[in-house]
Amino acid sequence: MEDMGKLRVGVILGGMSSEREVSLNSGRNVHDNLDRETFEPIPIFMDGEGRLWILSWQLISQNTTTDITERLEKEARRISYEGLKEEIDFAFISLHGKYGEDGCLQGLLELLGIPYTGPGVLASALGMDKHLQQMILRAAGIGVPESSLIREEAWRNDREGVIQTLRDRFGFPIFTKPPREGSSIGVTLVRNEDSLVRGIEEALKWDRAVLVEEALDGLEFSSIILEEAGELHALELTEITPQSDYFTYDDKYMPGRCRKFTPPKNIAPEAVEAIKKEAVHAFRALGFRSYGRIDGFYLKDGRILITDPNSSSGMAPSSFFFEQAACAGMLPAMIIGRLIENALIIHREKNGPL
Ligand SMILES: Nc1ncnc2c1ncn2[C@@H]1O[C@H](COP(=O)(O)OP(=O)(O)OP(=O)(O)O)[C@@H](O)[C@H]1O
Ligand SMILES: [Mg+2]
Repeated sequence: MEDMGKLRVGVILGGMSSEREVSLNSGRNVHDNLDRETFEPIPIFMDGEGRLWILSWQLISQNTTTDITERLEKEARRISYEGLKEEIDFAFISLHGKYGEDGCLQGLLELLGIPYTGPGVLASALGMDKHLQQMILRAAGIGVPESSLIREEAWRNDREGVIQTLRDRFGFPIFTKPPREGSSIGVTLVRNEDSLVRGIEEALKWDRAVLVEEALDGLEFSSIILEEAGELHALELTEITPQSDYFTYDDKYMPGRCRKFTPPKNIAPEAVEAIKKEAVHAFRALGFRSYGRIDGFYLKDGRILITDPNSSSGMAPSSFFFEQAACAGMLPAMIIGRLIENALIIHREKNGPL
């Protein structure tokens, strides 16, 4: 039943991307932490075909999106896209990856007039596209890794030529990745020519192009940026020490897999401040709004390179988002509430789609 006076917050989770399990984890944590005094949380599941369902809170405790999907017909209520505006006043987007983080859902919400977390269509799309975002960051004078985009067609037509070009330009090791994924899906650390073909084919499972990057040797960081009253500020920085050769899917989500230091342990305070400034700069250059997470590397020579600006962020209990909020003295419910209040203001003040 609708609880008059409370903002009905639809927490949208699941989705059509490779990251739907990560989304389920983020979404149910947001749902569980929403302050019931102010908000009425409504879990909304996007299934593998992009259809929307209102779930009971019991159903989101299922382990996988497959478990939920099997029970939808009997236990959930299907709603049309248009019907969404009768059900919620605000969308907390906990979808990750394609169709949820990349502007598709944002476009739908704009058409429906429902305010939401994160940036609008264009910046969301840029936030997912590592090739285009590098072009924009470079143009803004922000350091990014050396990279090269290989389209699937070029690879299929002239594999030897592509390998030769990459060998001449980068040497090894290098990283290969799909330009538009997250959670390290499709990412490979390529140490030699033998594993190059495997790395490129792995990335092509997820996209029609592969981004090849020089492998950076330095300290990895992650910076959550919040937009509040028109001001951008970075929360406390996190330094990441992966357990694997790089920050893999398992390192990100398996309990106890990697060390994270908030504030950083091995980066001097002045450098931390410079990194935060650069993260804010990148956030602004890409047109991000509301909040975002800017990842990068601090190199031994003092350079700061931005490798992965994200227009949204994982929100599981051990995420950067909640770890950095905790460092600023904010419980999950507090930072979630602030994010919603600020997103509402941003949407109220916009003129045309965000
Ligand atoms: N050029 C690089 N040099 C060194 N390490 C890299 C490079 N690119 C990626 N990595 C490593 O691989 C990890 C995943 O890469 P990246 O951040 O590009 O992927 P993602 O899937 O977008 O991640 P996220 O889940 O943060 O959105 C990074 O956290 C980092 O540890
Ligand atoms: Mg990313």
